[in-house]
Amino acid sequence: MHLAHLVDIQCKQHDIRTIIDLGAGLGYVCQMLHYLYSYQVLGLEKNKENISKAFIRQKKLYPDSLHKVKYILYDVTCDSTDVIESILQQEFPDVTNVCLIGLHACGDLSTSASKIFCRMNSAKLLVLISCCYHKLSISKSVQIPMQEKQYFHNFPTSNCLRETIAEYNFDVGQFLRVPFLRLACQESADKWHSMSKEKHDEHAFHVLARAVLELYSRQHNYSLNKKVRKGTRKSQCLNFQTYIKDSLLRYDLIPYNLALEDYATLTDRMIMQDELEKDITQMWEKQSKRLKDVEIYTGLQMMLQLPAESLILQDRLCWLHEHGLEAIIVPVMNKCVSPRSYAIVSHKH
Ligand SMILES: C[S@@+](CC[C@H](N)C(=O)[O-])C[C@H]1O[C@@H](n2cnc3c(N)ncnc32)[C@H](O)[C@@H]1O
Repeated sequence: MHLAHLVDIQCKQHDIRTIIDLGAGLGYVCQMLHYLYSYQVLGLEKNKENISKAFIRQKKLYPDSLHKVKYILYDVTCDSTDVIESILQQEFPDVTNVCLIGLHACGDLSTSASKIFCRMNSAKLLVLISCCYHKLSISKSVQIPMQEKQYFHNFPTSNCLRETIAEYNFDVGQFLRVPFLRLACQESADKWHSMSKEKHDEHAFHVLARAVLELYSRQHNYSLNKKVRKGTRKSQCLNFQTYIKDSLLRYDLIPYNLALEDYATLTDRMIMQDELEKDITQMWEKQSKRLKDVEIYTGLQMMLQLPAESLILQDRLCWLHEHGLEAIIVPVMNKCVSPRSYAIVSHKH
């Protein structure tokens, strides 16, 4: 089942014809919901460029939808209830029942969506797929030897989890940190089911090669700056020699004590590149015996991904229950296609 289909089924059950998409991105879901099922849709998005791309795409591909699918530039926060109600009345006057949706609502946007849903009178239904848990905002960080303790505004969010933690005197800042949240949004273990040995070898190679690049930079006090949007192109890499050549075209290794402007004018940059290539290749030769370990760690990571994600989703579900709302978790998408595949569905009577 796809999100648009799930939203349609839920909206039909609750007699809803208007949808508000929080974090609409380029408007793919907004357009789909109108095109397939004739909903009127309000897409809220904080990124100006995304809004303008969504609008350009709409004018080109779906010109008939201009009065039914609206994009508004707006940064949604947990205090946005009144503003969203007034945007709704302005764009679609007299609408009294809406469904709030979020597809891949990242960081705090997901928890804001639940809070808005709880407070907004016209919001009767919520269908939410979260992502990028590691982008949740940090409320406090404390440096301790070898580690930084981290605490978040919106995790844990339910009284249930907070009280359990308090009861066991458990310091979440030491364990439920950004690395835990990153782990929760890794790919799911389902992806491994049909992976061939060649694919595992290829995966291990790319993970270790990137790790060597990182290790070299850290040990030699370089910052690793991407020059282009996408780092190393996997298709260009037959072995480490081609990998490192491609990487050095796409990343700058800038000494920490050198300003970016000074690096740009450095005359012996080319000599430096050659030396880097040689040095990093030597490091690879020492580390490459670890190729097998990479897949073992990846397997372990994949096994922990689902329990980590479950804890976050159950915490969010409990928060909704604690606020008197019915809510369930529904598997929506194929995990191999989209690793964030669970939707929280909640409705008000
Ligand atoms: C991962 S993208 C998903 C986009 C879209 N829902 C999709 O699935 O194609 C998340 C989007 O949410 C937007 N976003 C994140 N936080 C937001 C906020 N607080 N208010 C509005 N938009 C936000 C981002 O700019 C980005 O376009």
